Amino acid sequence: MSQPLPVSKPPRHVAIIMDGNGRWATSRGLPRSAGHKAGIDALRRAVRAAADMGIEYLTIYSFSTENWSRPRTEVAFLLDLLKRFIRQDVAELHASGVRIRVIGDRENLDPSILSMLDEAERLTQGNTAFTLVVAFNYGSRQEIARAARRIAEQVEQGNLKSSEVTATILDRLLDTSGMPEPDLLIRTGGEERISNFLLWQCAYAEFVFVPEFWPDFNAEILARAVQTYAARERRFGGLKAQTA
Ligand code: IPE
Ligand code: IPE
Ligand code: MG
Repeated sequence: MSQPLPVSKPPRHVAIIMDGNGRWATSRGLPRSAGHKAGIDALRRAVRAAADMGIEYLTIYSFSTENWSRPRTEVAFLLDLLKRFIRQDVAELHASGVRIRVIGDRENLDPSILSMLDEAERLTQGNTAFTLVVAFNYGSRQEIARAARRIAEQVEQGNLKSSEVTATILDRLLDTSGMPEPDLLIRTGGEERISNFLLWQCAYAEFVFVPEFWPDFNAEILARAVQTYAARERRFGGLKAQTA
């Protein structure tokens, strides 16, 4: 397989739907949990590769609000894996200048997970080299509904007029407040859907769907997706850029 060429202007923010862990495991005659475990190594490779490529933000979909509908044992395994990842990797991420941010619903979560996530965010908040955004218990519709509720509260309290509600105001109330929008959304595992991920934020993202299962993800797959992205023309509703 030919090595993809480096891209001169990488996307600033890449978001990834890390899908296909279960199928990766099943195709090897292993339990689904083995796929999730192997997915952690893929995540480590992705962070390293993205930082090396000059990408500034990497957002990863680690657990959706809909994933609670999976069997209890699988849910418990995934939560435990997240805790282990935080415990094992935060010190090293911090040492490499990675800032960690967590997005998603914090209501009714296990306090032990919440405190670990809070601590990881607090410890790394001053880092500027690279931002890893962990979408945990994340659902985009719920995030937008939460922002709408806060707007309604401000209007009720008389701090905001309904005529002042704009996309900018709503954007600032999302969990992703202050971050640039994703330029490139990658989904592994071959499915071509968004599964309630960053619906608002991906309004003008470029989508790249790759067949490889998440545990097989590596720097080469990322580089190829970035090249596909770089070859596209983003128009944001305007016209093709004129060549003078
Ligand atoms: C992605 O892999 C991991 C999570 C959704 C947490 P899946 O577990 O969805 O794997 P497939 O799609 O069933 O193969
Ligand atoms: C999306 O994958 C969620 C994560 C990767 C965390 P799913 O496997 O849950 O999505 P669907 O069910 O195939 O849409
Ligand atoms: Mg899946």
